Formats: sequence, C-alpha cells, structure tokens
Amino acid sequence: MVLSMIENEVTTAIGTPNIALVKYWGKRNEKLNLPMNSSISITLDENLNTKTSVMFTDKLESDLLYINKEKQDINSLDSPEKLRFIKKTLEFMRNKSGFNKKALIVSENSFPTSSGIASSASGGATLVFALSSALNLHLSKREMSIIARQISGSACRSVYGGVVEWRKGKKIDGSDSYAKQVIEPDYWNELRDIIAIVDGTKKKISSSLGHQATIATSTLYKARPKHADAEVKIIKEAIKRRDFQGMAEIIMKDSNNMHATMLDTWPPIMYLNDNSKEIIYAIHELNDKKNKYVAAYTFDAGANAHIITTADYADDVFDVLKGISGIKSTIQSGLGMGPKIKNNGSLIDVDKLGPK
Ligand code: DP6
Repeated sequence: MVLSMIENEVTTAIGTPNIALVKYWGKRNEKLNLPMNSSISITLDENLNTKTSVMFTDKLESDLLYINKEKQDINSLDSPEKLRFIKKTLEFMRNKSGFNKKALIVSENSFPTSSGIASSASGGATLVFALSSALNLHLSKREMSIIARQISGSACRSVYGGVVEWRKGKKIDGSDSYAKQVIEPDYWNELRDIIAIVDGTKKKISSSLGHQATIATSTLYKARPKHADAEVKIIKEAIKRRDFQGMAEIIMKDSNNMHATMLDTWPPIMYLNDNSKEIIYAIHELNDKKNKYVAAYTFDAGANAHIITTADYADDVFDVLKGISGIKSTIQSGLGMGPKIKNNGSLIDVDKLGPK
C-alpha cells in the first residue's frame, strides 16, 4: 500500500521565489513567524527556481540535507535556526504521514542564495510541497502555507502562483496566518519583474535577525504595521483592476519605508548599496520622462533590485539598466504558477545516496 510505495521513491518538486510589493518586516511571534502586518507579493516564474528532491529510505541512519550540493547539519541542536525549522518541518510532516524512514533531501537554487532574492521563500515552499507529495499527505495549499510560514515567513506566499496576499491573522497559534491567491498568473500576463543583480554575495545580517532588531529599536517602525496593512488593501484593488498607475507608487514607497526602518534600527541595517541607489534614481527619471509610472523598484533584504513593470516597457527598463555599470546580470520573470511536481529532474543519486 501507500507506505511501501513511499520508500526509496524519489519525489522532485520545483518552486519559485516571490517578491513582496508590500513587505513583511517585523514579527509578533518569532517562533511561529507571525507577522506584524499583512503583505502582498508576486510569485516569480521558473527563470528563477528551487528544485528539491526527497527520498525516504531505510538505507540511511539519520536524515540528510544538501543545499546547493553542500551537506547541512540538520541533526544538531546547535545548527542555525533555519536548519532547525527545516528539521522540525520534516519531523512534523513525517509523523503526520505515519511513515518513519529517514529522509534524504537535496535542494538547489538556480540563483544566488541569501542575497535578497527570497531563496528561503522558494526553498521553504518547495520543500513543503515536495514532502507533502512524497509522503502522500494530500495537504491543502492553506495547510502547506501554514507549514511553510514556520520555515520562513515569506515562504508561505510562494505556495501559490500569481499575486498572493499573506493575511497576518490574529490568533496566538497562527492558524489564521496564511497566504491566499489574489489573482491567477494568467489574469495579468503582461506583469514583469526585472531583477538587477548588483551583489551576489550572502547578506551580512539575516532577515530573521533584522526583523527583531528593527522592532526592538526603531522609532520609525512603530508607524509601519498599520500603514502597511492599509497599503495592502489599496494595492490589492489596483491589482484586480490591472492598474499599474495605482500600484507603482505604493510599491516604491513601501520598499523605501521598510528600508528607512532598517536604517533607523540600532545598530543600523543597510542592505542597499550605491548601485541600488543609482537604480532608484534611474527609475524615477524613466517615469518622469514617460510622464507616468512605467516601472517601480523594490528591494527585499538585499541590494539586488526588482523592477516591476509591464511587457510594453521591459525594453525601456533594460535600456536604463544598461547605463548602470555596477549591474552584474539581469533576470526577467513573469508571474509564476507556484510549486509543482517535476519527476523527471531528480537531484538524487540513488546509488550514492547524495546529490548528483
Ligand atoms: C524583506 O521571510 O526571510 O523579504 O520569516 O525570518 O525567514 P523569516 O524572514 P523572511 O523575511 C523576508 C522579508 C522581506 C520582505 C518580504 O518578503 O515580505
């Protein structure tokens, strides 16, 4: 029956990052990753992706996790917080399935990890999706969103494709804090995110530490949660109308607002670099030249720029970016579909019981 089928079978899922248009910054509960405000994001397409292969087997004595071909220490209590969350998720889902074999998990990102391109969002959502399928759990997207949130808050949004809202919820146990799809990817085919990589290195301050430091020390932050919640409501309606003018200003202002609270943190957190700032000015100049909003910049916890635009103006954005010398590469993405199973791309070498 089902349990015997699970053993030694490799399940591979592919998922993608998301970029927040109104950001999650600050937690009301650190253990459960419950946010101070609701947020809204677009799920990117497979031009940027995480692939995760999972196998349950009795050939292993302990669980094994490889990320980008590097073995991660998930079995120690001293391991970094993110790894402990992954281990907790694995144990929770395995217990739920009633299957007790050890897991081999191999995960790879097609883009720089921990540099503000939401690798933890993509990784968390893809892992939960792969485990749910490998263990035949038949979880709903809402259930997956709640589990993924506990690995990394922003991961709860990457469980869906299109434009996605994470409702902050009110309950202490987090059971009402999950993501919901606002529009399907096909509803607004023309929407684009052009990512300008100005820094591919790992960020110096993890977002997990940043969230708490800002809440603890920034005076400016006090005004943010209420303001962000109001912006989510407004931008959601603009998105439903496919109204770029109605959303562009909110996107840019919200990114600036979040980064202002980061700078106001003590000691200050600065993710943006001079290239990021040059991009900000260049996008304002482009909009001024066109006499309307044709592009909107936004930055997560990193220096790399996400320029939200529509297909009609993608070339204009690329022209602008060509003039900025610090840009190492660009990636264009439309709206993605969310995670899916892709069983022809296994990353596991079954004979070696490690990555291929
Ligand atoms: C700036 O989801 O990485 O990207 O919950 O601690 O894992 P943890 O934080 P994380 O925070 C992301 C913050 C952000 C904005 C956003 O994606 O909404």
